[in-house]
Amino acid sequence: MCGIIGATGPGRVTEILLDGLARLEYRGYDSAGLVLQAEGELWRARAATGTRSLEDLRKVVEGAVDAARSGTGIGHTRWATHGHPTEANAHPIMDCSGRVAVVHNGIIENWRELSARLAADGHVRTSDTDTEVFAHLIEEELASGLSLADAVRSTLREVRGAFALAVVCAGEPGTIVGARRVSPLVVGMADGDGDGDEAITGEALLASDIPALLGRTRRLWTLEDDQVVELRPGSIRVTTLAGKEVEPSVLNVEWDLEAAEKGGYPDFMGKEIHEQPRALADTLLGRMLPEGTFALDELRISNEHLSQVNKVFIVACGSSYHAGLVAKYAIEHWARLPTEIDIASEFRYRDPVLDDRTLVIGVSQSGETIDTLQAMREARQWSAKVLVISNVVDSSMAREADGVLYTRAGPEVGVASTKTHLAQIVALEVLALHLAQLRGFLSAADARMIFDNLEGLPDLVEKALAREDDVSAVARRFMKARDFFYLGRHVGYPVALEGALKLKEIAYLRAEGYPAGELKHGPIALIEPGAVVVGVATRTRLWEKMMGNIAEVRSRGATVVLVANDSDHDTADQADEVLWVPRTDPLLAPVVDVVPLQLFAYHLARAHGYDVDRPRNLAKTVTVE
Ligand code: BG6
Repeated sequence: MCGIIGATGPGRVTEILLDGLARLEYRGYDSAGLVLQAEGELWRARAATGTRSLEDLRKVVEGAVDAARSGTGIGHTRWATHGHPTEANAHPIMDCSGRVAVVHNGIIENWRELSARLAADGHVRTSDTDTEVFAHLIEEELASGLSLADAVRSTLREVRGAFALAVVCAGEPGTIVGARRVSPLVVGMADGDGDGDEAITGEALLASDIPALLGRTRRLWTLEDDQVVELRPGSIRVTTLAGKEVEPSVLNVEWDLEAAEKGGYPDFMGKEIHEQPRALADTLLGRMLPEGTFALDELRISNEHLSQVNKVFIVACGSSYHAGLVAKYAIEHWARLPTEIDIASEFRYRDPVLDDRTLVIGVSQSGETIDTLQAMREARQWSAKVLVISNVVDSSMAREADGVLYTRAGPEVGVASTKTHLAQIVALEVLALHLAQLRGFLSAADARMIFDNLEGLPDLVEKALAREDDVSAVARRFMKARDFFYLGRHVGYPVALEGALKLKEIAYLRAEGYPAGELKHGPIALIEPGAVVVGVATRTRLWEKMMGNIAEVRSRGATVVLVANDSDHDTADQADEVLWVPRTDPLLAPVVDVVPLQLFAYHLARAHGYDVDRPRNLAKTVTVE
């Protein structure tokens, strides 16, 4: 998730670009850059200094007086997905001639085959980004005599994936062309300070998100998929891919700036819970090739070596540990590989038995958690191959590991993980399917079928999110409750653990997650009237046993809340409250079943008036042992 912006017009365009990028930094801060049109040339500045990138970029731009007077430019703040966070991979990305510049947010699915074709036609790449194919494809179309807008339209017919992009070229002064498919893009006409009561000042604007433009205008429109916008000073023209002119949809924005950065949600956690369908779709995008095998470019460990692996260890902390626990079930089921999972801070001190045929998988959204990092370093000393599942490109773990698989959930601000947890589960399940295929336990057809179910998860999560009000109403009925037991069996157990963790993290309530079958061996002694049991009772082959465990706690007076599959009234009849979820393949169900438990904790915490983004005593990334 990157941030793009563009502005053309009489005013201080450079200022509009830099201020707008500052308001888009929550979308990514690996690098920042902009291109300004000046005297028929394109002037580019980029900085790839992590969180200081925008500050360093501002210094360069403000030092370049002539360029700073330009009336047309595009800018970008990056959250790396393809290519390390280096200056060479920082946007804007240019073509061979340096006369076309592109900024892009999204992922191009077929960039490999397009790159190969462009290289065969003599184009020379200067970056590792998928974005670069746009610059060279547009370069070719311009060379064939098309206008910039027509060149972009023609290019979009070749490209598959998700994108919002903006393009300038030296040959069309004052013109910015933008387009979108899936990734958001808003356009606007500046009117001074954006309070909407003044006349327009003539700067035509575009950006990935409303916050970037809110300081400049409230005259905003949003583009639909496969629409192309042409910005010129004082004018905005929107067309379809076929070139037919259309009226863009008006955006009435009541939000103030802070609310806009939270997408209109009261906090980042609420926003990130609702970004989960997008995080899943982006994490899965381009992962399966037409022939039914997996494209895991950044894996860096050969298929030969992976097919020789005879044991897997998963090490992680917090919510990442719970995602790892789901993966243990998936790897053993699909790839028939013995898999152990460990809390990272325990792993290195228990003398694990590893060798060069062991694969150790570290799971960490930040890629910086010291317990997991140290556990991975320990594993390497025992010559095990180490792979990390991380959400941050070039994090310490990604740099040190033998291989990496990136989730693409975008930056997560809320301390309690939500969207990265779901993205980790699907990334780990793709890895499990890949291992199963390499070990000959899974045909391309079966892999395709399971992958189709994975690709169906964003819609199912969307459905679960649509029941937020019902979940919130249930949660508020537990304002007085103090003790919660979360129960699950098989992959429902890590879901129970994650649900309990969320309640502890943000609502400060005592909550324990247990394998439901274990309760009768001790913890059931704590069950009495007033105790709340939250059970993950979706349909798996252990449903009957799970319902047996629920009967045990009901008979001792517990209040029972059950996560149940839609219209499964047999389950609902055994519950005091039901959290409904759509049904899916049992090994994929944790991605859907955990959503109402996130919402339950979220709404109970908010009802208690707690700050869910910055819960007490916690940190987003713990870099001390
Ligand atoms: C904790 C966070 O500090 O670390 C949790 O509050 C997170 O949300 C855990 O799950 C592990 O972090 P990471 O970055 O290694 O996944």
